[in-house]
Amino acid sequence: MAEIKRHDELQGAIVHVYDGIEEADNQLPLWWLAIFYGAIVFAIGYWFYYEAYAAAPLGRAAYDEQMAAEAAAAPEVTPEQLVAMGEDAEAVAAGRAVFEANCVACHDQMAQGKIGPNLTDAYWIHGGSAMDIHLTITQGYPAKGMPPWGPSLGAEAVNHAVAYILSIRNTNVEGKEAQGELYAPEGAVEDAGVQEPAEVLDGAAAAPADGDDAEHAEPADHAEHADGEPTAEGSGSNEATEE
Ligand code: HEC
Repeated sequence: MAEIKRHDELQGAIVHVYDGIEEADNQLPLWWLAIFYGAIVFAIGYWFYYEAYAAAPLGRAAYDEQMAAEAAAAPEVTPEQLVAMGEDAEAVAAGRAVFEANCVACHDQMAQGKIGPNLTDAYWIHGGSAMDIHLTITQGYPAKGMPPWGPSLGAEAVNHAVAYILSIRNTNVEGKEAQGELYAPEGAVEDAGVQEPAEVLDGAAAAPADGDDAEHAEPADHAEHADGEPTAEGSGSNEATEE
């Protein structure tokens, strides 16, 4: 036991003085000791459980396992399923709710585009097919400002969002100017009387989407489709001017 140098009013017995710095020797509080020894006991138990015997996977491995299991459980979606959902009022309504909750900030209320592109026109940066849209929403293009939604929304909500976008695709809400390339779903290509989708793309580049069909004598079936279908109009002028 160290020699007691003096008694301090607050600190009690001073047992050591060096260069005028005094050191007392007091009991550590019980709560402090409990945490200290408890941590040691816990660390030993933890080490044996997770490291020595690997009785359970570590956090990261457990997370990976769970994600893999979820990915495996998530049903692979087919284009047919997505297209069918796009025609299913319930799925579209669910998708609209997803859209309003998550997407309007960038794509605006009517999906006419704001920070993100107009989703109601026929032009797509990343492709306008059901599977293209599904991929875009699932993985996003974070470098271009489109967040990945797969992880946060889950497979079902993503499918609903795709259904909603399929239902508004080519409705041409007045909004942000077209970006990307013309995507014509098979049906629309046929409607426009064009056999080759490649021609449609050329037409889009050569003639502005709003089309000045009046100058060209259009066959009657083109005129019928002139109500807001850039596919028909674009390709129409293309045929008339370049062939
Ligand atoms: C933080 C802003 C932001 C939010 C929120 C957002 N997007 Fe986007 N989105 C973008 C941007 C920016 C692009 C264009 C990316 C590019 O230029 O490559 C884009 C592109 C897209 C495209 C592809 C369009 C094309 O022309 O190929 C789709 C589809 C899309 N978003 C759907 C959604 C859906 C559905 C949601 C909600 C679940 C959503 N976005 C939420 C910013 C956003």
